[in-house]
Amino acid sequence: MNSNDIAVYLHIPFCVKRCLYCDYVSTTDLSLKAKYFNALSKEIALKGEKLKGRKVRTIYFGGGTPSFVEEEFILQTFRSLQEHMDLSDLEEFTIEVNPESVNEKKVQFYKEIGINRISMGFQSTSDKILKTVGRSHDFNKGLESYKLLTSFYDNINIDFIVGLPYENFETVNSNLEFIEKMKPSHISYYLLDSSHDTPLKHFLEIKEMKLPEDDLVYDLLDYIYDQLKKLQYNRYEISSWSLPQKECIHNQFYWYNLDYVGFGVSAGGHINNERYVNTSDVKAYITKLNNEELPYDTKNANDEFAELLETLFMSLRLTKGITYDSLVQRFSKNVVDNVLNQLKNNLEEYISIDDSIKLTTKGLNFSRFVFEKLLDVSPT
Ligand SMILES: C[S@@+](CC[C@H](N)C(=O)[O-])C[C@H]1O[C@@H](n2cnc3c(N)ncnc32)[C@H](O)[C@@H]1O
Ligand code: SF4
Repeated sequence: MNSNDIAVYLHIPFCVKRCLYCDYVSTTDLSLKAKYFNALSKEIALKGEKLKGRKVRTIYFGGGTPSFVEEEFILQTFRSLQEHMDLSDLEEFTIEVNPESVNEKKVQFYKEIGINRISMGFQSTSDKILKTVGRSHDFNKGLESYKLLTSFYDNINIDFIVGLPYENFETVNSNLEFIEKMKPSHISYYLLDSSHDTPLKHFLEIKEMKLPEDDLVYDLLDYIYDQLKKLQYNRYEISSWSLPQKECIHNQFYWYNLDYVGFGVSAGGHINNERYVNTSDVKAYITKLNNEELPYDTKNANDEFAELLETLFMSLRLTKGITYDSLVQRFSKNVVDNVLNQLKNNLEEYISIDDSIKLTTKGLNFSRFVFEKLLDVSPT
């Protein structure tokens, strides 16, 4: 990656309905849609001014549900990017779609504006699971939409979640059969995170819903890893598998802690060692931009230690990790060595430290534990 390159993320916070497990910022209230997109264009204009000379390598429309909004809003946003940013080296352009809101006209339009990668949220092939967690589609709708996508694209990611209520070997096998038949070029297989304040967490607390036992979920994870390997998928990040040369380029900006700019509510960015997160409140976002103000919730400059720790935190998600050489090119050798010594002493079984710094197999399986422990590393 050239150090002048940046990635662009745009958050589209509208959904048909809210899924019970979801903690991402989105709303089903569409009354502010037009105002939101005008504010988004304004944010692009304001931040674009400050990013003159930087070349956009990837664009990612995420959400929420970008496929739920009309084409005119995606076009307006894309035109703003064209006007205010340098897209001459654009390599990867992704949009997230949901099965119930994507259709042929929209996919045709995505193709026309240069979108070259699609990410579709499937989550499960089990209708019982989909219905229980409040998805707006069933398996057949998912299959129909996936087939539609394949008539336009061969660069398609499918999202699955493991560990939802009613998950068992049968439901996971059905997901794997779908993958084997359809052969998407990329798969994101996430472990359910039920720690956030969501309706799912509430239903679990009042015992109206139940998750599969942890032991079963760990067995399922092992099984998924083995089966996807047999299907020629390479696990290159904790939750990401791809066929050869189909790794996601956009996410590598996050994983190597490179520079990226986020537009929209709740979007985060990391530019020149500064990290920011935008407000999560749609109304506040619109008001601030109407007043020509950037909609930050937080914005901090990282010192070298914080920047290094963030870089390790993110790059340890990659199965190949990060090389020692690339760390000492970016950071002072003594700061790097101090941090790596602490990791050696405290996380030896979980992190291998050599020419590359990466998680061991045990570390990959217990990555949440490793990331918690990383917070204990101190600057001295
Ligand atoms: C930001 S969401 C948006 C995608 C799209 N709206 C959808 O629902 O398919 C991206 C992905 O994050 C994953 N995700 C969302 N909530 C999750 C949770 N609580 N635990 C694990 N994965 C989650 C899902 O796989 C989802 O497809
Ligand atoms: S999982 Fe996707 S569709 Fe469901 S509420 Fe979250 S962003 Fe919306």
